[in-house]
Amino acid sequence: MDVLLGLQWGDEGKGKVVDFLAPEYDIIARFQGGPNAGHTLIFDGKKFVLHTIPSGIFRSNLINVIGNGVVVDPITLGKEMDKLDEFGVSYQDRLLIARKAHLILPTHRWLDAASEASKGLAKIGSTLKGIGPTYMDKTGRNGLRIGDILTPDFNEKYQVLKEKHLGLLKMYPKVDFDLDNQEHLWMNAIERLRSFQIVDCEYYINHALKAGKRILAEGAQGTMLDIDFGTYPFVTSSNTITAGVCTGLGVAPSKIGKVIGITKAYCTRVGSGPFPTELEDETGEKLRAIGAEFGATTGRPRRCGWIDLVQLRYTCMINGVTELVVTKMDVLNDFDTLSAANTYNISGKSVNEIPFELSDPNIVPVYEELKGWNKDLTGITEMSNTPAEFQEYIAYLENRLETPVSMISTGPDRTELILR
Ligand code: GDP
Ligand code: IMO
Ligand code: MG
Repeated sequence: MDVLLGLQWGDEGKGKVVDFLAPEYDIIARFQGGPNAGHTLIFDGKKFVLHTIPSGIFRSNLINVIGNGVVVDPITLGKEMDKLDEFGVSYQDRLLIARKAHLILPTHRWLDAASEASKGLAKIGSTLKGIGPTYMDKTGRNGLRIGDILTPDFNEKYQVLKEKHLGLLKMYPKVDFDLDNQEHLWMNAIERLRSFQIVDCEYYINHALKAGKRILAEGAQGTMLDIDFGTYPFVTSSNTITAGVCTGLGVAPSKIGKVIGITKAYCTRVGSGPFPTELEDETGEKLRAIGAEFGATTGRPRRCGWIDLVQLRYTCMINGVTELVVTKMDVLNDFDTLSAANTYNISGKSVNEIPFELSDPNIVPVYEELKGWNKDLTGITEMSNTPAEFQEYIAYLENRLETPVSMISTGPDRTELILR
């Protein structure tokens, strides 16, 4: 089983690359996260944003698994299915949902909004999809799982958890929420889920591996948003790293093969939290404008900055990355010089490792400068057609990260990719 995951703060282009690689696999499986994810796929002049459904769904015959580590909002999932219907994509027999995946209730979303409102300026910048409260109920042993929707007392279980949430909401500032309407939508969406194949993910995946099936695990978010190793507390609530594949699908570490780590050629972050190489100037604006850096789930402008090699060395280490994919190289087409932070200077000391407090105002990234290529290379597919400066940037990343770059993305479309 191979893994593909983000090495920054999400939105590295995972959806595009999974969609491209999918034909090499039999099964694509999401192992964590939920509708906080927004994975954009563009092909044949059409654009699609997936939130819960794995990015292999557009490749016919491929099985797509929503693993036990994922949190599922039946309403969002239903909307994604409606979109697939509009596109004429069949999925009913190819989309499998883990019995042990947890359910996002309407009141989880309400709690997410209330919790953020109570934090004021210290808010996480959550996508407000109910992710944090749902994982809290999972680890607090109160959650509802997909398997519960098939039990006769599901409604009572739902009422118990809802009442608990309504009690908790009293602690928070008042936030508008139309519970009756959302509950109605949710119950209808649950009904639809009952018609899907609900599987014991751990057995399904292990039997498939035994039968020689090729599986790709698709990460959501990025390593810097990991609950343990990210910029806590400005993180999501799941393990976004390779280790999360084991707990999120029920596979042993020894089953993991290639670990494909994705990074943009620069860096972005959406939501609050530290970002040492952030550019709050014209260059940052330029990256946002050219890179169309607006959230695929929330539409929020993404914060932009130069690539951070201290961060990437850390995230390659945590994940055991065996190969790199560099995306959005075309966004750097129009720069005279490019910068990459190779170390941090913290109060006069040179630092090579991610410190405990990444928000320390004394952290100053130490940049190395490279020459830009100043040429429109959008959509290019052959390395031999790229200028020396382009090749030098890739060689520089490989050298500094001690990891080979196997793919370079040069545009949003499925076909805009250099394979090496
Ligand atoms: P994900 O969450 O990692 O799947 O990434 P998102 O879909 O949230 O964000 C990536 C954005 O960049 C999407 O709008 C993609 O269509 C776009 N994209 C992906 N690869 C490239 C690329 O190489 N060049 C450009 N210009 N855009 C890209
Ligand atoms: P994909 O899979 C970028 C960020 C939010 C917020 C923090 C916590 O598209 O890369 P949450 O809703 O999880 O409680 O939010 O994490 N975040 C993402 N940022 N890409 C994502 O997913 C993200 N999912 C969550 O902006 O800062
Ligand atoms: Mg995204």
